[in-house]
Amino acid sequence: MAAPEEINADMLAFWNGKGGDTWVARQEHTDITLTPVTDALLAFAAPRAGERVVDIGCGCGAPTLEFARAVGPSGRVTGLDISRPMLAEGERRASAAGIANVDWRQDDPATAALDEYDLLSSAFGVMFFGDRVAAFTNMRRGAAPYARMALVCWRTLAENPWMEVPMTAAAQHLPPRPKPAPNAPVMFAFADPEHVTEVLTAAGWAPPCFEKLDMDLDIAAGRGLEEAVVQSIRIGAVNSWLRDQPAVVVSAVAAALRDALAPYADGARVRLPGAMWLISSAPA
Ligand SMILES: C[S@@+](CC[C@H](N)C(=O)[O-])C[C@H]1O[C@@H](n2cnc3c(N)ncnc32)[C@H](O)[C@@H]1O
Repeated sequence: MAAPEEINADMLAFWNGKGGDTWVARQEHTDITLTPVTDALLAFAAPRAGERVVDIGCGCGAPTLEFARAVGPSGRVTGLDISRPMLAEGERRASAAGIANVDWRQDDPATAALDEYDLLSSAFGVMFFGDRVAAFTNMRRGAAPYARMALVCWRTLAENPWMEVPMTAAAQHLPPRPKPAPNAPVMFAFADPEHVTEVLTAAGWAPPCFEKLDMDLDIAAGRGLEEAVVQSIRIGAVNSWLRDQPAVVVSAVAAALRDALAPYADGARVRLPGAMWLISSAPA
């Protein structure tokens, strides 16, 4: 696998560049798809009025803003991310919503100095670290004595048809994808509870508990089949596979996605199963 510094540089270039810009452009759609996940994470993390929360890999801030509402004016949320464009979008949305208790910080969770916090949370933002143990060790340093952790991460690709169906359809028109190295920084990197337990315990956290979260996700965000195709092409694993492919291949993949997703269309919605872990822990 690539060295941690190389992974960090790649991630910074992607999320702080074109990848981050695309996420900002597609955020409204993504937020609608993931609303039930955000709701489940909030219920799981159970933020209380007055608490100090850190949201890791907060992106454009959908869960961050919900944490800010939950802790209220006497509480405070730090949204930490490496992506300047996504943080700027989060900040814009907070100010449009009149939410003033969030600090949007562009920083690396592996080195950032964190003020004492009560709750560390993340929605799909902890899989991309160059050195996971170093990042969780650093995050552990800011934890209050009774702090808790609440994360949501994807389980395996095979358990996630919302991504597996588009990937299988795209495969007909694309060269085979190189198999990612074990524990590479990909979206399914926290699918294996054994690996996550190893990382967290090595970083000074108690052995985590894993709760399955299974729900259908509307990848069309209520906007019809064509929007589901566009979203699948612009965001996530199909998008990275399509990078540098000529327009003719992209069109062929779009047609294959349309055929593969059509059976899941139900009016304006295209719902496929998603499988996640809700992970909890606390300082050891
Ligand atoms: C899949 S997005 C999730 C964004 C947000 N949590 C949400 O639910 O909408 C992953 C986020 O992790 C961030 N990220 C990637 N690598 C990171 C790192 N090393 N440190 C902090 N954030 C990182 C990305 O910039 C991006 O905002």
